[in-house]
Amino acid sequence: MSLSSPITAAPPVLSFAALNSAPHEFYKELRPVFPFVQREDGAFLVLRAHDVEKLVSDPRTRQIETELLRARGIASGPVLELVSNSLLFSNGDAHHRRRRPLSRSFAFRMMEGLRPNVRILAEELVASKRGAGEMRLRDEYAAVIPAATIAAILGIPRDDIPLFTSMAYRVSKILTTSWTQEDLPDIEAATRDLSSYVAGLIDDRRKRPRGDFLSDYVASVDQAAEMSPVEAVMQIASVVLGGSDTTRAAIAIMVGLLLERQDCLWRALRYRPAMVAAAVAEALRFEPPVASIPRLAIEDINLDGHVIPRGSPVLLSTMSGLRDPAVFIDPDQFNLTRPLGKWHPVFGGGEHRCLG
Ligand code: HEM
Repeated sequence: MSLSSPITAAPPVLSFAALNSAPHEFYKELRPVFPFVQREDGAFLVLRAHDVEKLVSDPRTRQIETELLRARGIASGPVLELVSNSLLFSNGDAHHRRRRPLSRSFAFRMMEGLRPNVRILAEELVASKRGAGEMRLRDEYAAVIPAATIAAILGIPRDDIPLFTSMAYRVSKILTTSWTQEDLPDIEAATRDLSSYVAGLIDDRRKRPRGDFLSDYVASVDQAAEMSPVEAVMQIASVVLGGSDTTRAAIAIMVGLLLERQDCLWRALRYRPAMVAAAVAEALRFEPPVASIPRLAIEDINLDGHVIPRGSPVLLSTMSGLRDPAVFIDPDQFNLTRPLGKWHPVFGGGEHRCLG
């Protein structure tokens, strides 16, 4: 395909292989010419920062519910049960009911309180491997920190953490586009196991409240009486789903970026640890662990004269938007002094903005 097509040409349809080969280069060429491209599976990938920001909470879009699962032939079973009861995949009143008890307990204060423990865990993981040869970055470091942290939030006993970690990552595959029919039995088994594990935790806190996050959540659910027992379980499973793979990917990517920039970035952070927060924010912009945010077009959406038809799946490309020079000066430079604001766009916007 020639990217020098005139502006009136229809946006191209691109294969996964083309899009995944060198995404940043590809988006850089496509973005000025087309506001979106279509993927071979029919989804529309929106490329420009202003459109991504607008459409994430635009009344012409809504959250995808069970449509994608059903399109892949899943009409029953534990995965459909999770998706149809989760705040992540719901709209309107159902979304509000499901989000309310979580957002009450999921406060900045709780997150701040976790910070020292995350640091100790990260240091222990590195210390345990020092002098022992290689460390497998993804599985022995990046995967352990989110799972152990969510386990701490949920008050999961230490001995259960390996089982919980395995369930979390097996279930979180469902959020990717890369799972195949062969993966499905394992994802379904893990979803069933995670749901009954969470049901057990909820039951325990109902009988023996401990003043922790889960006890507050159960009290709030019981007091509001707005959710079914299955919904109460699935919001906690959704926290596990939303917090595991995203953070695992973020940690692996950030360590990779540091290793690629040992001379400048790594040294800068060793001598100026106060810059770590800025480095994390810039890394999330530079290589976002969530490459796009899905929506469904509920009306025709006209972007710069090109139309995404009503009923189409839309992917708001954070990967492209966060490198759009219309918003980010010198977007391909990793810049520790870049102002990114309090509400980083990688966490979405509007009603579904990331809770974690
Ligand atoms: C670098 C890490 C993370 C990234 C990049 C990320 C990104 C996102 C994004 C883009 C959304 C919005 C989805 C949408 O609008 O459709 C979201 C929602 C959500 N995230 Fe995160 N997230 C991260 C970490 C976490 C963590 C650690 C947790 C929990 C422990 C979490 C829990 C959730 C939940 C429950 C939602 C659903 C909110 C709703 O639908 O109302 N996330 N996240």
